[in-house]
Amino acid sequence: MTEKFRELSVSREDVLAAKEKGQDGLSQLIHSVHSSGDLVFILETLGSLPATFGSECFIDLLQHENKDVRLWAVKNLGKLKSVELLPFYKDVIESDTNTTVKREAVSSIGRMRKEATIPTLISILKNPDPKIVCQAIRGLLVFKGNIEVDTQLKQLINHENEMVVSVIKKEYFADVKMDKKSLPHPETYPFLVNVAVNGDVRDVLKYVPDESVHLTFTSPPYYNARDYSIYPSYDAYLFFLKEVFQETYRITKEGRFLVVNTSPVIVPRISRAHSSKRYPIPFDIHYDLIKMGWEFIDDIVWMKPEYSVKNRIGGFQQHRKPLAYKPNSVTEYLMVYRKQTSRLIDWNIHQYSNEIVEKSKVKDGFETTNVWQICPKSDKVHSAIFPYDLCKRVIEYYSFVGDLIFDPFGGSGTVGRTAISMDRKFFMTEKDPQYFEYMKSFRKEDIFDETPAKFLTLEQFKNNTL
Ligand SMILES: C[S@@+](CC[C@H](N)C(=O)[O-])C[C@H]1O[C@@H](n2cnc3c(N)ncnc32)[C@H](O)[C@@H]1O
Repeated sequence: MTEKFRELSVSREDVLAAKEKGQDGLSQLIHSVHSSGDLVFILETLGSLPATFGSECFIDLLQHENKDVRLWAVKNLGKLKSVELLPFYKDVIESDTNTTVKREAVSSIGRMRKEATIPTLISILKNPDPKIVCQAIRGLLVFKGNIEVDTQLKQLINHENEMVVSVIKKEYFADVKMDKKSLPHPETYPFLVNVAVNGDVRDVLKYVPDESVHLTFTSPPYYNARDYSIYPSYDAYLFFLKEVFQETYRITKEGRFLVVNTSPVIVPRISRAHSSKRYPIPFDIHYDLIKMGWEFIDDIVWMKPEYSVKNRIGGFQQHRKPLAYKPNSVTEYLMVYRKQTSRLIDWNIHQYSNEIVEKSKVKDGFETTNVWQICPKSDKVHSAIFPYDLCKRVIEYYSFVGDLIFDPFGGSGTVGRTAISMDRKFFMTEKDPQYFEYMKSFRKEDIFDETPAKFLTLEQFKNNTL
């Protein structure tokens, strides 16, 4: 029988009675049991301890072979909040083989909140485990303002671990926005509101001020898969997207989101003597996005009921030969990113009035997983348009009522129309005059009628800007 399922030989009453008798009573109980399970039970059941409770029986258990016993021994020592225990904690941090036990020791030192712990916490900053370093930083931040503490912590800006660097950056090197004339977070510039511009997104964005949009949801042209997406090389294509998303970063408000819909594409073989090539677009652009400051938040899989391109598995179904397996793809990705900031999401939420937050609350029936089953939409004019339900979810989950939603690759304008139907505003760009006309054509019969939408040439847009 495993230790876990063995019956305990002590009861809760035994433990509480022993605790009443103090250190000696507890020692006796500890020595009377023979299994680690019993020991853990005793240590877990002790509850709060007075600072005067002796520490010896716990110190003895710091060498126990079972990691849970050692962890609970440290936890109980922590309740005594005694600086005299610092050498024991140091020993655990240096020699214990279990990282949870070590972290508990650092946390026990931090919870003392006593100046005498500063040198020990500083010495822990050199530990090779970044989680332990973060725990020590947490303990030291209680003394922020102390010259020695500040000096030691600031040096960690050059630490090799990104979590450590981000904590230090936030605490000591956060951008102080000096005198920057920016709009209140929920607001944007009137000349962008419900505007679609016919032009290359890179040209249009030159006239868009920093921090003007709240959410970008887009599906970029797929590499050399359709007429409107022909690039000289894959590198040129990735470079183009890099330029667009770099500019999108600039015009995005602090801490707000970018949701990019892509999927790997296949470029067919030129003849039977060659093979086709598959390009993993979402994975290749991910690295560029991270490098420019977009923080990765989530990967959502858009799952369709059926595959929509050529039947790839057909050949395999006939011959069943390994290596030639090529599944039909029924998914695309929605990669979710947030513009880097030291502020928490709560800060973004607090920028809005209670009324707006209330109005924007996501309705019942929201998706709880990262697999979204949504039927694709086919269209007689545009070959790759978003289904309304997909736009609706993204806009509902990642923006507030009144926000400005941007789509750099507007196509038929699904993002814009959905934004309006959800009490948001839109700003879109679309290069192709034919698609732009198509987008415009919805004006008569659709929701654009109710809201004064403007469809501008680049020249007209330029003349309208600040
Ligand atoms: C995948 S489609 C977007 C379809 C859109 N989501 C919809 O629901 O209709 C990509 C669009 O980007 C446009 N496009 C390509 N390069 C562009 C550029 N440099 N600037 C603006 N639009 C561009 C294409 O003409 C195409 O309509």
